[in-house]
Amino acid sequence: MAYTIKLKYSDVTPRADYMNRRQLMGGAVGLATGLALGPALGASKYSADLDPTALEDISSYNNFYEFGTGKGDPASHAHKLTVDPWSVEIDGMVERPGSYGLEDILKKVTQEERIYRFRCVETWSMVVPWVGFELNQLLNMAGVQGGAKYVAFQTLFRPEEMPGQKTVNLEWPYREGLRLDEAMHPLTIMATGIYDEPMPKQNGAPLRLVVPWKYGYKSIKSIVRVTLTDKEPQTTWNMLQPNEYGFYSNVNPEVSHPRWSQAYEKPIGGGLFAKRQETLKFNGYEEEVASLYDGMDLVVNH
Ligand code: MTE
Repeated sequence: MAYTIKLKYSDVTPRADYMNRRQLMGGAVGLATGLALGPALGASKYSADLDPTALEDISSYNNFYEFGTGKGDPASHAHKLTVDPWSVEIDGMVERPGSYGLEDILKKVTQEERIYRFRCVETWSMVVPWVGFELNQLLNMAGVQGGAKYVAFQTLFRPEEMPGQKTVNLEWPYREGLRLDEAMHPLTIMATGIYDEPMPKQNGAPLRLVVPWKYGYKSIKSIVRVTLTDKEPQTTWNMLQPNEYGFYSNVNPEVSHPRWSQAYEKPIGGGLFAKRQETLKFNGYEEEVASLYDGMDLVVNH
């Protein structure tokens, strides 16, 4: 099985056709996510001009420890997760705290496609055509108070549907955090779908964070709580192994993980002949985000 050479989406669908199809499909994304989309779909300047990894690979090779630690566990078990209705508690240093229903959120934001590189700290990578909206739209909906400096995120805690929460030795619920300027950056999105389809449950339905210049574990799935705070939030992997998983976790080929190099990565889905490739600083988003870290020591603040 591991040696099967899989066809990529781009192998069976010429890229030009795929792009046209996606432009025509604007209404379909609207249907899938309950939102009327404008003409912007597929046209974002933040989308990378790369062939996306096949949906089959994106949705079968996952990390979602709430469903187990194996790469295939999320795809096997996530169907148990109830994702409708869904709401997000927004609290802490905001003008309008409260429970925000996902349907109401989606009526007020602009969704678009973002094709992003995705790089896991374990050294595998993918290219994912996300559908989503900029996190800054959600934060502005709630109104960020002047003193807020960080945003903390939490995943759903529901052990009866998420078996890993009973068996996997992480502190639940899964937690992540960003500095406020990172959270407000236009590259940072809340994703609701992949390939014009609603988000597969194993990929973090119905709403997950995507921060493309950081290691994948920062991109927390199935979010139910967003808290604005003036203190650096605790994050799951940092609590477990602070020397291995820093708060920033920016993709950086020059800073090794204590147990392996980060200089190269292996694209998922390439089959037997997939070549490893060089990892790019900030995962290829250096031009857009390097200035957020001006004057910071990126080794100390790994
Ligand atoms: N979010 C939650 N709630 N639980 C998790 O175990 N795993 C993280 C991140 N978000 C994880 C999570 C890690 S380690 C990675 S690499 C990405 O999700 C994987 O996302 P994907 O399965 O969509 O590729």
